[in-house]
Amino acid sequence: MSSWYDAWADRYAEWSTGVTADVPFYVELARETNGLLVELAVGNGRVAIPVAQATGRRVVGIDSSPAMLEQARVRAVEEGVELDLREGDIRELEIEEPAALIYCPGRSLLHLPTWGDRRRCFERVAASLRPNGRFAWNAFAFDHHIASAIDGRHADTPLPHTNHHSVSDNRVDITLDDGGTGSLWWATKNEWLGLLDVAGLRLEALYGGFAGEPLDDNSPEYVFVARR
Ligand SMILES: C[S@@+](CC[C@H](N)C(=O)[O-])C[C@H]1O[C@@H](n2cnc3c(N)ncnc32)[C@H](O)[C@@H]1O
Repeated sequence: MSSWYDAWADRYAEWSTGVTADVPFYVELARETNGLLVELAVGNGRVAIPVAQATGRRVVGIDSSPAMLEQARVRAVEEGVELDLREGDIRELEIEEPAALIYCPGRSLLHLPTWGDRRRCFERVAASLRPNGRFAWNAFAFDHHIASAIDGRHADTPLPHTNHHSVSDNRVDITLDDGGTGSLWWATKNEWLGLLDVAGLRLEALYGGFAGEPLDDNSPEYVFVARR
């Protein structure tokens, strides 16, 4: 299965250099559990590798992009950790034993276009967790000030690119100058809570940042922890 990311997997590490605050958050969740760890949309292993290093445990990483998985494979070898990398779609998650922690960093759930796509993913997560197992993810909180400031504007960093917002489709399209695109469909707090509800998961915590900040009107990010 190919994806947008295949076209620019070799540049993803540069694209994400500024994204670091989430790593200790997910590492800590992994340390708190003693069962199977699963990362949805593992990408190049940016988070899975430190999780495997910190816990000394195998991390199952699912991604639909063969090129991103190849990046993860190479980086894991360089770092001397074992990742169990699997090509697949997170809407069709199947794992052979119930997981203790399933997590999805990097706002990756926003790549699923519709609420129905996310519902399928959440239902598969609920079916794949052991009782009391945790599901954690983060996603940006839509801020119209930020959207209007960046819409249609070219930016040079982290890689030269332009963002275009489609408000009617709650979508932002990212186009890299050197080729490569991606879209994110933002969601409200209540959409996320509705997904937990239909999947039979319960909210454990909703933070406004990775240091456990309370969520308020200035929070750039939703950081969710749920339990089966
Ligand atoms: C922003 S990257 C995140 C990678 C990594 N988790 C991180 O935080 O750096 C998003 C990843 O989601 C993957 N992806 C997008 N849609 C997917 C889907 N439906 N199933 C599996 N992976 C998907 C892409 O291939 C890409 O590797």
